[in-house]
Amino acid sequence: MEFIDVVKKRRSIRAYKPDPVELEKISAILEAARQAPSWKNLQCWRFMVIGSREKREAITTAFSPQNPGAKALVQAPVIIVLCANPVESENWQNKDFYMLDAGLAMEHLVLAATDQGLATCWQGLYDEGKLREVLGVPGEFRIVALTPLGYPAQERDPRPRKAMEQIAFGEQWGEPWKG
Ligand SMILES: Cc1cc2nc3c(=O)[nH]c(=O)nc-3n(C[C@H](O)[C@H](O)[C@H](O)COP(=O)(O)O)c2cc1C
Repeated sequence: MEFIDVVKKRRSIRAYKPDPVELEKISAILEAARQAPSWKNLQCWRFMVIGSREKREAITTAFSPQNPGAKALVQAPVIIVLCANPVESENWQNKDFYMLDAGLAMEHLVLAATDQGLATCWQGLYDEGKLREVLGVPGEFRIVALTPLGYPAQERDPRPRKAMEQIAFGEQWGEPWKG
């Protein structure tokens, strides 16, 4: 797929088929995450690949039923958990780069998954303490996000985005960029 087509095809998918995900596809998307850029190339991220139904069900106990993505965590055959160690990255002028580093790796992963015909849905709303217990994540790591991974059981129209004039400025703040 052309890069821009991958970007446009990626949507937050909250309904999954039970079909298993091929191990080569999981390897390919983890490799895409591994190649992400990071502050001073410190690569503070770690990924967990969760396949068992038992563990996926345990993970949902850290989610509120109000989270629209919670159901998908049991439907999809795999969950990828993104962790990051703030001490393995740095804070510069009050900016914690570990979140940015981890986010970049996760977005590489999500786009690579889309390219493989798979679906994902970033999940950020959960009880981190409970999830830490379920997964045995050590205290120095934050659990930054997770995503179900599997074959989509729904097509979704794109969600609206801000207009280009609202987000892209030219030489002066607020002056629209004229592309
Ligand atoms: C950091 C982050 C956290 C998110 N957390 C959740 C979540 O907890 N539950 C959920 O259903 N969707 C979650 N989303 C998905 C967003 O709601 C979604 O990306 C947004 O509505 C745009 O839709 P799209 O991804 O289909 O383009 C999250 C997305 C990001 C980037």
